[in-house]
Formats: sequence, C-alpha cells, structure tokens
Amino acid sequence: MIKEIKADELDTGKFIEEKAKMIREQTGDNIAINALSGGVDSATVTMLGHKAIGRRLRTVFIQNGLMREGEPEMVKSYFNELGIDIEIVDAREEFINALKGITDPEEKREAITRTFYKDVFGRIVKESKAKCLLQGTILTDVDETVAGIKRQHNVFAQLGIDPQETFGYQIIEPLIELRKEGVRMVGKALGLPSELFNRIPFPGPALAARIIGEVTAGRLETVRKATTVVERMLCDRGAFQYMAILHEDRVTGMRNGQRDFGQQIEVRCWDSVDARTASPTNLPFDLLTKLAASIIEEVPGVVSVTYNIATKPPSTIEAV
Ligand code: XMP
Repeated sequence: MIKEIKADELDTGKFIEEKAKMIREQTGDNIAINALSGGVDSATVTMLGHKAIGRRLRTVFIQNGLMREGEPEMVKSYFNELGIDIEIVDAREEFINALKGITDPEEKREAITRTFYKDVFGRIVKESKAKCLLQGTILTDVDETVAGIKRQHNVFAQLGIDPQETFGYQIIEPLIELRKEGVRMVGKALGLPSELFNRIPFPGPALAARIIGEVTAGRLETVRKATTVVERMLCDRGAFQYMAILHEDRVTGMRNGQRDFGQQIEVRCWDSVDARTASPTNLPFDLLTKLAASIIEEVPGVVSVTYNIATKPPSTIEAV
C-alpha cells in the first residue's frame, strides 16, 4: 500500500530533498534514463532527476507518432532553456506497426506499453548501459490500475510485473505518493515554467487514448488536428482537461450539396481536482457551436461534433 502525500500536507522543499537523495542512492555511480513526454508528471520527474544526478540522467523524448502537433519541438525548447538537453528518438514506425489491426482498448494499451518499455526503451537502456529508468507514475495511475478500471500505461509493480525481469532494468518512481495537484506544486518549486507545470494532463498512450477503434496514420492526423482546435478554443476556461475524441462509427452528413458519410468528433471538457472524479464544464452554447464550426472547417472528413455531458464515474476522462 502506498501512503498518499496530500497536497495540503506537502512540504515541497523537503519532498524534493528526500526524493533527490533517494534517486542518488538508487542510481549509485550508474547512469539513469528518463522519458520526457512533456506532460506535468514527466516534466517534473525530469527536473527532479537532473537536480539529483545532473548529467548522469539522460532524458529522451520518444517520438511515437501519437503526440500532439509540434509537441517534441516545443518540449525540447522549454527544457533547453532550462539548461537540460533532450534527445528526440524517432520510433513512429514501430508504434504504428504495433497498433496495426488492434481495436480493443486494453490490447491497444498493452501494445503501446510493450513497444515503449520493451522494444524502444529496452534498446535505448541496453545501448546506454543505464541501470534504471526514472518515471513519473502518480498515485491516481496506480489506483485505477489496481481497481481494474483501466491499466495505466506506466504501472507494473502493482500488477505483479517485475520490470527488472520483464524489461531488464529497474524503475524509480519518485512521484508515486502524489496526485496531480501535488505534482504541480513540486514542478513549480523545481523551477519549471508555468507553461509546463500548469499544462493540462495528457495520457501516456497519448492520442491513441482518444481514438476509438484502430489507430492508423490517417486517423491520428484527424484527431491531432481536432485536438489543436479544441486546445486553442478551450484553453482559457479554467477547465482541468479538454480533448477531442475520434469515434469509430461514421454518420451521414452533407458537404457541398453531396452526401458525405463522415467522421464524428466528441469533445470532452472536464472540471476536476485530482482526476478521480470529474464533471463536464458548463461551457456556453455559443462557444460550443463555434467550436463545432471550427472543427468541421479545419478537420477534413468530420461531419458531426458532440459534447460529452456525462460525469466520471461512470465515464472515464479519456475514451480508451
Ligand atoms: P482516466 O481516463 O483514467 O484518466 O479517467 C485519469 C487521468 O489520468 C490521465 N492519464 C492517463 N489516462 N492512461 C489513461 O487512460 C494513461 O496511461 C494515462 N496517463 C495519464 C488522464 O489524461 C486523466 O487526466
């Protein structure tokens, strides 16, 4: 059982010192590696790791092809400004091949997890001779995996999986006692710019968590474009998280006087404190119709846009 450190009892200075010490002890004289996705958790772990062991931590950004528009370049430039070097590793082909033909949500997650930890990271860790992987797992990831709601991308020990045995390296998880609010506090205390520690959460399986049905290059492009529109138009609403989801079913629509059997985008925008429960943000109808018009205009093939008004539970925040 992991003991939670609640945001209101978190002493960020003490937490950072303790975790930096833990990272130094666990890595010893060895090299460690971490994967930066640009999300709040991985950005915070990157700062913490560099504070603890400096250049002995190699930070890589895995370009899995499932990221948002311009994400690798943006994240790299933020960290470069903080004096931290980021290597971008292009693994797009491996991920798209691994996802080919898969429609079941859990199988999709499994394929991404396996490709990430075993294939791509397995190789990088082996080549680098690093002994451990530093990772930003948080308590919410563990809770939902243990409860059997969905298997989070980054949870192993609690499922009885020994990373050392399965992947050949050890995993260090310094944020595991925290929830999102606590992580943001630590990220801020470590000097991350607010553009990074205040970013909306983004899931490990990235845009694949927002595609119902098969993940193909074309469908990724559709959801990526829709995500850009949703993020641009909902970023100033104070919501916890907002996203576009691509549905599998097509619906009849019309475009230029012609029947168009087109795609459907579902918009979700959540109010939440810690992602354990969430409710839909009360967005003005006017904004919703503008959002729909922009998605239809900017994303080829979309003829229907809906807004999700269910709560979590029974919904989850992501769709897959
Ligand atoms: P769900 O969809 O489980 O998401 O309600 C809870 C929060 O965790 C973020 N998140 C993930 N969600 N798989 C997920 O389904 C992951 O690997 C993952 N990593 C992070 C999600 O975006 C939401 O904020």
